[in-house]
Amino acid sequence: MKTSSTTPTRIFSGSRPTGPLHLGNYLGGIKGYLALQEKKEYDCIYAVVDLHGITSPYNPQNYPQQVQELVLEYLACGLDPEKAHLIIQSHIPEHIELAYLFSTIYPVSRLQQLPTYKDKKKNQPHYVNLGLLSYPVLMAADILIYKAQLVPVGKDQLPHLELTREIARKFNRLFGKTFPEPQAYLTPGAYVPSLTGQGKMSKTNPKSYISLIDNLETIKNKLAKVPTDTGKGKKIPSTGGVATLFTLVQLFQGEEKRKEYEKLYLSTGIKYQSLKKELALAIYQALQPIQEKRNYYLRRPKLVRDILTAGEKYARTIARETLNEAKEKMGLL
Ligand code: TRP
Repeated sequence: MKTSSTTPTRIFSGSRPTGPLHLGNYLGGIKGYLALQEKKEYDCIYAVVDLHGITSPYNPQNYPQQVQELVLEYLACGLDPEKAHLIIQSHIPEHIELAYLFSTIYPVSRLQQLPTYKDKKKNQPHYVNLGLLSYPVLMAADILIYKAQLVPVGKDQLPHLELTREIARKFNRLFGKTFPEPQAYLTPGAYVPSLTGQGKMSKTNPKSYISLIDNLETIKNKLAKVPTDTGKGKKIPSTGGVATLFTLVQLFQGEEKRKEYEKLYLSTGIKYQSLKKELALAIYQALQPIQEKRNYYLRRPKLVRDILTAGEKYARTIARETLNEAKEKMGLL
């Protein structure tokens, strides 16, 4: 466990267990935010937010496995239980109790205007539930129950962070200073384009991504489907499948290699078959250490349970304290 003479800055972040992580999740976020554990002045708590996951359609039969998979992948991507705390959100019921308290001070109308809520409403019109509406209130509770000051998130989560700060401010104004106003920490991560050549890698389109647990064969097959052109042209494409391939080359084989391909593209031409073969191997080699680590933990379920137990024991002590403070201030104790 880390020790520090000054009070550490608390970091909190969470991910929903929606299936295996992909290259975009890893290079665009997780990798960056797990690196924060290396700083002595930070005390990191990372969560699998299973209660947020069930606000969208899901399969209760697979769900425990999905939660376990994200736990394994956090560890595989480098979460070091000696340096950071790992928890499953629903194991700390204090989050829900604090979320309820917050729900009494936040207007419904403001929740209805959030872009994330509006998007979900459009995407899952038959699954518009109260949990979905109050999703950001539970997220505020996740963060504030640990009085976290820094929250590593992607840009899409900034409105939620703003709402978290609003709740903290309002609570402090109504009941007395209790919560800090947490800041977003925008993880400096790579933009990983979709294999379709349009937009970025995204879980919602299975054809768009390479997951962290894909084997070499799968990676080859997925790259084979990336749309290409004749391999030659007057200008390097900035969108589409070829642009995706060039970006992936840069990320996994380096900038020099990308420049080589660009030169070929503008002169004698590229053979995509061999480019894709080499790229598949490079991606696979980058994923191998992650997959090995995942397998290490997969074979040690007791170790994984112990890591969660320790993380949750640590987190729960803080959570209870904060909840009691909030209840006392609200006249409930
Ligand atoms: N809303 C986040 C997402 O969809 C997940 C999340 C839930 C979260 N609670 C959080 C992220 C607290 C950071 C902090 O990605």
